[in-house]
Amino acid sequence: MSLDEAADQINSGGVAAFPTETVYGLGADARNRDAIKEVFRLKARPADNPLIVHIAETDQIREFASEVPDAAPKLANKFWPGPLTMVFSKKADVLDIVTGGLPTVALRMPDHPLALDLIRKTAPLVGPSANKSGRPSPTKAEHVTSDFGDDVIVLDGGSCKLGLESTVIRIEENRITILRPGHIDPTELEKASGLPVEYEKPKTDKPPESPGTKYSHYSPKAEVKLALNLPESFKPDTLYLIISEIEMDSELPDNVIVYDGNLRLMAEELYDRFRQADIHGYQNVVIVGLDTEDKSGLGRAVANRIEKAAGI
Ligand code: TXA
Ligand code: MG
Repeated sequence: MSLDEAADQINSGGVAAFPTETVYGLGADARNRDAIKEVFRLKARPADNPLIVHIAETDQIREFASEVPDAAPKLANKFWPGPLTMVFSKKADVLDIVTGGLPTVALRMPDHPLALDLIRKTAPLVGPSANKSGRPSPTKAEHVTSDFGDDVIVLDGGSCKLGLESTVIRIEENRITILRPGHIDPTELEKASGLPVEYEKPKTDKPPESPGTKYSHYSPKAEVKLALNLPESFKPDTLYLIISEIEMDSELPDNVIVYDGNLRLMAEELYDRFRQADIHGYQNVVIVGLDTEDKSGLGRAVANRIEKAAGI
């Protein structure tokens, strides 16, 4: 599928999957209610889970946001195009189906030439991750096809370089809250905005403010488990993803993957590993050495996705 074909599909009211630096998105014109309905139908996505609008120019913030806090242009300047999604008060004409009925709209400018070209040839696009709800997000074109078959055409941009979804933030007058952790570090957000940054604290009495974070997510069919230490022996029905640096004297079997502390590579490959686990019929995925206390953007993001996959 070429860029022009994908653009034609969207311009004629259809849906096309497109690559970004984080994961593939399921694109549709953010002003076309019927096209967006089709996105929800295809994904089997709950209607209260709002979509991110993907833009190609900073000026397009104003088409969707009714208010732009001072920190927003500073953050856009520093992190766009890139894996940062900012939540704004929405303009009255932004479709309710996009925002799940919320008074806010989430915006991001993806860092991928094909995504930016596609938006320029079409319109600002809604772009939920191009997976069936509950499945791991797609980081390769073939992942999209494995979830949707012929129902969704895919603009193939190769493997996504980051592999985990964008950092979602809310900006208030005197602080920034991270609603969904991603690659971007809280300290970098603080430096660029001049505001203190904190992760959203889980509230027991209220649903989280980023509705998508309340659903079970990112899961392979295999059971995902955490282990602090290496097992005594490796079971053949289990895929082991070992984050920690370890020294092994013997050759490792194919079902043992060692990241030697390279969290970036782990993030990039994680969803593909989950999908591979299902293709190979593994019963379990055991993650060894995950630091659940890591407060860096990447550390928190990896732990968050794995904890969700493990149902923690
Ligand atoms: O990296 C990404 O963000 C990818 C690529 C394709 O851009 N997209 C993505 O979209 O992850 P999705 O729909 O799978 O996740 C969007 C997240 C959900 O957790 C949703 O609840 C949150 O963003 N969100 C969207 N609009 C929001 C809003 N108005 N307020 C708070 N959270 C919002
Ligand atoms: Mg998603």
